[in-house]
Amino acid sequence: MRLQGKTALVTGAARGIGLEFARAYIAEGARVALADINAEAVEKAAASLGPQAVAVQMDITRQDSIDAGFAQAVARLGHLDILINNAALFSAAPIVEITRADYDRLFAVNVAGTMFCTQAAARHMIERGQGGTIINMASQAGRRGESLVAVYCATKAAVISFTQSAGLNLIRHGINVNAIAPGVVDGEHWDGVDAFFAKYEGKPLGQKKKEVGASVPFGRMGTAADLTGMAIFLATAEAKYIVAQTFGVDGGNWMA
Ligand SMILES: NC(=O)c1ccc[n+]([C@@H]2O[C@H](COP(=O)([O-])OP(=O)(O)OC[C@H]3O[C@@H](n4cnc5c(N)ncnc54)[C@H](O)[C@@H]3O)[C@@H](O)[C@H]2O)c1
Repeated sequence: MRLQGKTALVTGAARGIGLEFARAYIAEGARVALADINAEAVEKAAASLGPQAVAVQMDITRQDSIDAGFAQAVARLGHLDILINNAALFSAAPIVEITRADYDRLFAVNVAGTMFCTQAAARHMIERGQGGTIINMASQAGRRGESLVAVYCATKAAVISFTQSAGLNLIRHGINVNAIAPGVVDGEHWDGVDAFFAKYEGKPLGQKKKEVGASVPFGRMGTAADLTGMAIFLATAEAKYIVAQTFGVDGGNWMA
């Protein structure tokens, strides 16, 4: 039980990687607030994890919702030791088809959402005076451009940059900020990604997913469970000297 007595808030936890992080944290002894814009799905997700999980409806693009969501999580869990900034949106389009609406939507969730949830958690952790852990979900997409994925890649590059600045600023309070950069992770999110590539590359549905899985050096796409080891480790005392880093957990995909 590496997280016994710890409390965490995970954004975007109604499904996918965030839900798996919540499950893994609870298995390590933590109590977890699952936060998501989708109220019905997050209630269901939290109920599936038992009494150590609480559901919080929160839209990370709205400051009033962030403030209310963090207040609710602190009221129900007592305090917060860990934040995982996991919620994000994806889109794909050739440069000449990118819309301002799509740019605004992605930056509001992936970048501003990450920054202002970090701020809310940091204010609470500083006031409490016992440090904390903040983990941002970056991506291999933040380390290099992709022809059809300019907006998402730019948001994830911003997450890596913000992790560096926040890590440097908050370590004086004993708050470790680091990021995880997955490669390609199977789940509902990637079904959406696959549909974008079907549209723009003229591939049958499911084809892109097969191709990306086959090209991962490890030999397959990742699963959410492949990421939990790093998410647990970064929240333990063993990781306390690790500051402002982004860790690839991608089966070697980015290196290749
Ligand atoms: N799946 C992959 O291949 C992959 C690869 C690299 C990085 N990542 C990153 O990992 C994280 C999780 O990915 P996933 O595949 O589980 O995604 P997902 O799309 O399955 O889940 C995202 C969750 O975020 C929620 N959400 C969206 N907008 C929100 C908002 N405004 N406020 C609160 N919640 C909101 C959604 O309702 C959803 O439950 C993301 O940051 C993603 O960019 C995923």
